[in-house]
Amino acid sequence: FARARASLRRTLTGAPNSPFRDSLLQGKVALITGGATGIGFEIATQLARHGAHIVLMGRRKPVLDAAVAVLQKAGFQAIGLQGDVRKREDASQVVEATVQRFGRLDVLVNNAAGNFLVAAEDLSPNGFRTVLDIDSVGTFTMCHAALNHLKCGGTGKAAADSGLIINISATLHYSAQWYQIHVSAAKAAIDSLTRSLALEWGTDYGIRVNGIAPGPIKDTPGIQKLAPDEAGVKYHIEKNNWGEKWDIAMAAVFLASDAGRHINGVTLPVDRGNWLIKPRI
Ligand code: HXC
Repeated sequence: FARARASLRRTLTGAPNSPFRDSLLQGKVALITGGATGIGFEIATQLARHGAHIVLMGRRKPVLDAAVAVLQKAGFQAIGLQGDVRKREDASQVVEATVQRFGRLDVLVNNAAGNFLVAAEDLSPNGFRTVLDIDSVGTFTMCHAALNHLKCGGTGKAAADSGLIINISATLHYSAQWYQIHVSAAKAAIDSLTRSLALEWGTDYGIRVNGIAPGPIKDTPGIQKLAPDEAGVKYHIEKNNWGEKWDIAMAAVFLASDAGRHINGVTLPVDRGNWLIKPRI
């Protein structure tokens, strides 16, 4: 009866239970950029639910405060730190404040991103640069600021226990996508730096650097921008490629766990194989 009731509750909320044990990430500290909304917030929630202490970084204080309140109300250890990944001083301050508060840093999730739909001919070079600054340069800036703490978790722990970087990417640059020239270039650069850092920092410091590439995910700021009308939403539902934030967060939980210890330098598409799809001929 209890199992039936749990299953009914899952059906009602639409959120599956986690297949992982609650203490999976006990003792770990995770910093998530753009962590107060959308995919970033779900990643933060699931890392917290599996035992990690959480720092959310974002530009808007009221949005951060609201997100932190939700996590704390659920009984999780979480704080919010205001900052813009485009600013080096913000990156350093947030990383240092994270270590000051929780004593270490184990997982950096580079999730902050900018996006808007625009035809290439209507996009100014500054608009192009702005998205690369947030997504690609911002990711590198955060990695750079976090390096010293990821090497040893800030506690002098053994190299084998070094940190993890998860870069949130996309699949749209595997081919091309209308009105996304700036984001496609930015995410391609992120995938490239995932490999380069995995090689250099994986070899020298045992830091794993991996990516997750979501397909269209419902109820996110990203999909509101990319499929702003009903026709766009209907397209994704009909194609059955409509993921949930939970799907992305579970990939992050897996990578952050010991089960992911041998995985370095890959970007994992989480889109039900949609990136492979070509019309049947
Ligand atoms: C054309 C635009 C534009 C638009 C901005 N620009 N919005 N150009 N169409 N809709 C241009 C401006 O004209 C300007 O160029 C330049 O970009 C900088 O604009 P600002 O407004 O000054 O930039 P800023 O205030 O820093 O805002 C950054 C932003 C913003 C990216 C433009 O939209 C933002 O931060 N949004 C919130 C984050 C967000 O959307 N997250 C969801 C990510 S989803 P000029 O030449 O005029 O100076 C995601 C999914 C990936 O990443 C794909 C999944 C499948």
